[in-house]
This record gives sequence, structure tokens and C-alpha cells, in this order.
Amino acid sequence: MTVKVTVTGAAGQIGYALLFRIASGHLLGPDVPVQLSLLEITPALKAAEGTAMELDDCAFPLLKGIDITDDPNYAFNGTNVALLVGARPRTAGMERGDLLSANGGIFGPQGRAINDNAADDVRVLVVGNPANTNALIAQRHAPDVPADRFTAMTRLDHNRALSQLSSKLGVPVTDIKKMTIWGNHSATQYPDLYHAEVGGKIAAELVDQDWLKDTFIPTVAKRGAAIIEARGASSAASAANAAIDHVHSWVNGTPEGDWTSAAIVSDGSYGVPEGIISSFPVVSRNGQWEIVQGLDIDDFSRGKIDASVKELQEERDAVKELGLI
Ligand code: NAD
Ligand code: LMR
Repeated sequence: MTVKVTVTGAAGQIGYALLFRIASGHLLGPDVPVQLSLLEITPALKAAEGTAMELDDCAFPLLKGIDITDDPNYAFNGTNVALLVGARPRTAGMERGDLLSANGGIFGPQGRAINDNAADDVRVLVVGNPANTNALIAQRHAPDVPADRFTAMTRLDHNRALSQLSSKLGVPVTDIKKMTIWGNHSATQYPDLYHAEVGGKIAAELVDQDWLKDTFIPTVAKRGAAIIEARGASSAASAANAAIDHVHSWVNGTPEGDWTSAAIVSDGSYGVPEGIISSFPVVSRNGQWEIVQGLDIDDFSRGKIDASVKELQEERDAVKELGLI
């Protein structure tokens, strides 16, 4: 059966890196036909059409069709997978409240359009920043969709953590299991080496504690800013790659003996207040994310998780105050 995938912000940088991989079968699998729906703002429709022309020119066997629109109700009609990439970037002089408010104006209506039009099995991944809180806004506007279908992306942070540890230890990334990103997709996130394993050993015991605390954690947490500084634009191909990984794991499951990271609606696990969208160690079974339970959290990790969760609570309170949820 053909799966309908809606991508918002389709004419943007991430969209350009994402669409070709979806159409070539990397999102869902090599046997799954896809119908693409591209949602853009009116001034960017022409650029989206250009990208669609290029998609046509690839003659992808799995690509059954492409719709392009600036109408969220049409874009999400019957959609099975919604990748919410388009967002309002922070510009000079913009306060946090302005940013949250501008994005509330995007993610509220999109959440409602998903509620009213998407397929019953819809799965939503929010990439556009501030991703966790944008996902919360969308979720709260979709009361008829199970809350656990709304997620935000921390897979890029997860992949960054794998890569940093792999180069530090000189081991292939495939030797590293059970990496976790906790909290917000922001500089407060907590990449956790106390549960990660390398060849069956705890990663935190294989590295210097100074490196872990003073280099590894800030390098991963501030990697987004470092990419912006180097490239003059935010990460695009690596963000698209992480979105592919997130949805592929969600739909097709995570391997036995390992887990991944995703920001999902908290059920209160690990003291994270119920309802906020926070990153956890997760497995996917039968197409559903489950939080890995029973991990011991020491004082250091507790402090780091709490700090990021506090930021998420503040963002939630701010959007509540703005009447966005
Ligand atoms: P971009 O500016 O190149 O593209 C964004 C696109 O979104 C633009 O084409 C714009 O026209 C479109 N857009 C804006 N409002 C829209 C709306 N209401 N409906 C549909 N489309 C709309 O940006 P980009 O580099 O592709 O990044 C997109 C977002 O992803 C940014 O918010 C960025 O900060 C975020 N991001 C998140 C992660 C993560 O790990 N979660 C990583 C990298 C980037
Ligand atoms: C990233 O992690 O690369 C992005 O979220 C950075 C940004 O602010 O767009």
C-alpha cells in the first residue's frame, strides 16, 4: 500500500536533503511506495515546484506522485507520516516569546489540520525549532490523535554523540550501544555516557571524566551552533538523515539489545512531568515508541536531566501564557 508522507518547509534546506531519500525508499523501506505532499508558504511554492521537477527527473520507482500546496488541510489529507520541518527561524532582535509566538502560529494550525485530515495511523515528527515545544503545540491542537503520535527530533543529537564517542575511542559507531539524549533539543540537552556501552563495557568508564564533562557533553549539545558558525547555515543533510533514522526506527523497530533517542510525550518516567515532550532512551516495538525503564540515574545525571526538563517546562509555561496551548 502506498504511504502518504507530508513534508512541511519542503523548499528549505532540510527539505532538499530529505525528499530524495524519502522517494528512494530510505524512510520506510525499499518495498514501500510513497506519495509525497509538499507544504510550503505561498512565496516558496515555486521553489517547491522546482524540487518536485527534480524528483520527477530521478524516476524513482517507489514515488507514486507529488502534491504541492500552501493549504495545510490539503497537505495532511490522508497523510500517514508528517515531517514538520518548516518553522520560523529566530532573527535578530527577536525575543524568545516572539519566536514561540511565531511558531505557535504555524504549529497550532498544522496540528489542527493533522487532527482533521490525517490518516488514523498518522505519525508526526517535528524537526522545526524549538522542536520539542513546537511538537507540544501541534499535539495539543490534535485532541483526536493519540498523543504518542507526536514526537520531536533528538536523533541528530544522538548520532552526534555516537560519532564523537566513536572518534574518541577509535571504535566503529556500530560498536556503541544504548546511547541516550535526555531532555530538550537545545544546549541544555544531556548526552548520557553512563548507560551507553562499548563492546559491553560502560562508555563512561572508558573515557576520562574531564573529557566526558568538559568536552563530550558541550560538544554534542552545542554542535548545532558550531555547524551554523562553520557553514553559515544550520545543519541540513545531517538533520534530514536523522529524520530518516527516526521514522525508520519508529516504523520498522529498533534492534534487540540497543535503543535510540527520541523526544516523546512523557508518561512521568524518570521524574519528567507528564505531558511534556522530552527526549528519552526509547525502543520501538510494533510501531510504537516505549521508554526504556529501570535505568539507575546518579546525582550527576539527575542534575543534567532536571536542568533540561526545567527549560522544557519554562517553554511550555511560556506558550501556555501566550495562549498557544
Ligand atoms: P530553511 O529556512 O532552509 O527552510 C524552512 C522552510 O520552511 C522555508 O522554505 C520556509 O518557506 C518554510 N516554511 C516556513 N513557514 C512555513 C509554514 N507555515 N508552512 C510550511 N512551510 C513553512 O530551514 P531549514 O534549514 O530547512 O531548517 C528548518 C528547521 O529545522 C529550522 O527550524 C531549524 O532550526 C530546524 N532544525 C532542527 C534540527 C533538529 O535536530 N531538531 C536540526 C537542524 C535544523
Ligand atoms: C541543529 O541542532 O543543528 C539545529 O537545531 C541548530 C539550529 O538552531 O537550527
